[in-house]
Amino acid sequence: MKIAIGSDHGGFEARKYIVGNLHKSGYDVIDVGCVEPATCDYVDYAVKVCELLQNGDADFGILICGTGIGMSIVANKFCGIRAALCVSTDFAKLARNHNDANVLCTSGRFVSKETALEIVDVFLSESFDGDRADGIRHKKRVDKIALIDERERKCRTV
Ligand code: RB5
Repeated sequence: MKIAIGSDHGGFEARKYIVGNLHKSGYDVIDVGCVEPATCDYVDYAVKVCELLQNGDADFGILICGTGIGMSIVANKFCGIRAALCVSTDFAKLARNHNDANVLCTSGRFVSKETALEIVDVFLSESFDGDRADGIRHKKRVDKIALIDERERKCRTV
């Protein structure tokens, strides 16, 4: 599984910690930066990660900024991206189970790096309930989101 990850300065430490642990767990990780903890714009890293997903170069994205809010706003502008801001493992589980989220956004300032890693682990290990017979309602809802993508700007499927 290929994971693209990016952060601004607000998520720098958490990103480094998560990248190290993802490597240890055997994930194929594309780390798009930022390269140093100096102030920078979260927008640029959200764009890089979402483009990797849109181009089929990554299966899931992880974005971390101070709150996770800026990252999630940017990521959800991209067709085919379903970005979920998660500050607990319960959110991460439901983001995959119900929303088929493909980008996890979290906070480098309001969540400890250890909790952020737990959130990532849950997000990457859970699956979409809409692929199961008893979860058709979730598929129907996510399909409606895709229709909005189509209506707004014809998109590449991710
Ligand atoms: C940077 O100070 C901060 O605004 C950013 O990391 C993020 O929280 C934005 O949503």
